Amino acid sequence: MPDLRVEPLKDDDVEESMRTQYVAFRHAEGIGRLLSPEPLPTKEYIAASSSSRRKTMHSNPAARFRAVFDNSTGQLIACAHWDIYTEERTQDQVDESSRLPPVPPGVHPDAWNDFFGNISKNRITVLGTRPIAMLCTLVTHPDHYRRGAGTLLMEQFVNEADREGLEAYLEASEVGKSLYARFGFSPVSEREFHLEKYGATGVDRNTVMIREARAK
Ligand SMILES: CC(C)(COP(=O)(O)OP(=O)(O)OC[C@H]1O[C@@H](n2cnc3c(N)ncnc32)[C@H](O)[C@@H]1OP(=O)(O)O)[C@@H](O)C(=O)NCCC(=O)NCCS
Repeated sequence: MPDLRVEPLKDDDVEESMRTQYVAFRHAEGIGRLLSPEPLPTKEYIAASSSSRRKTMHSNPAARFRAVFDNSTGQLIACAHWDIYTEERTQDQVDESSRLPPVPPGVHPDAWNDFFGNISKNRITVLGTRPIAMLCTLVTHPDHYRRGAGTLLMEQFVNEADREGLEAYLEASEVGKSLYARFGFSPVSEREFHLEKYGATGVDRNTVMIREARAK
């Protein structure tokens, strides 16, 4: 039996997927660390963000959520969310999906607004309304890095893009870049974040990467 399996995310596993996401970003180098509440989010916080995730799962027909489980423990160790837009979207739909999320308690507000402001701007100016397969989230619990969970999720993402004959789009963290390049994504623009602005040190980057559509 393989070590890991991928499944569609179920309602009952949403809270664990949110905890995994927060731990992954908290553990990340760079700006990701400033975007996750410190200390780890409260039960109320997880409940509120899980309810928003469940709402997206059930109300957005384009949204796909997947989770990776460790077969030996049954533990959820990674998750991803991508959207599949097979048709041109209206500007209103793009604006809605690019809306800046409100700053949650416990995170650095300027880091949050700069980071997600940049993501929103790219989705409007670089991506626009065209049909697209868009990766929104990809995270692995830090205890399980480099076991192939990220690769399994990326395989499913690009396979779905190829089945639909769609171009694919994502915003890469530094640690994700080489994984995405392996799947045929190329950088198209990059934004630097000077972390001293947020009371930390160093420079981080976020890179828009695109993979051309392949024949169906
Ligand atoms: C990016 C991420 C999802 C990769 O998940 P993963 O399950 O470890 O992925 P894989 O095991 O398939 O490894 C794929 C590649 O990711 C990179 N990687 C994963 N963990 C890493 C680490 N701790 N340090 C450096 N590179 C790492 C490597 O390039 C690795 O390939 P390699 O082992 O052949 O060198 C994970 O590191 C993560 O959640 N990071 C924090 C959140 C984040 O940045 N997400 C991406 C947002 S765009």
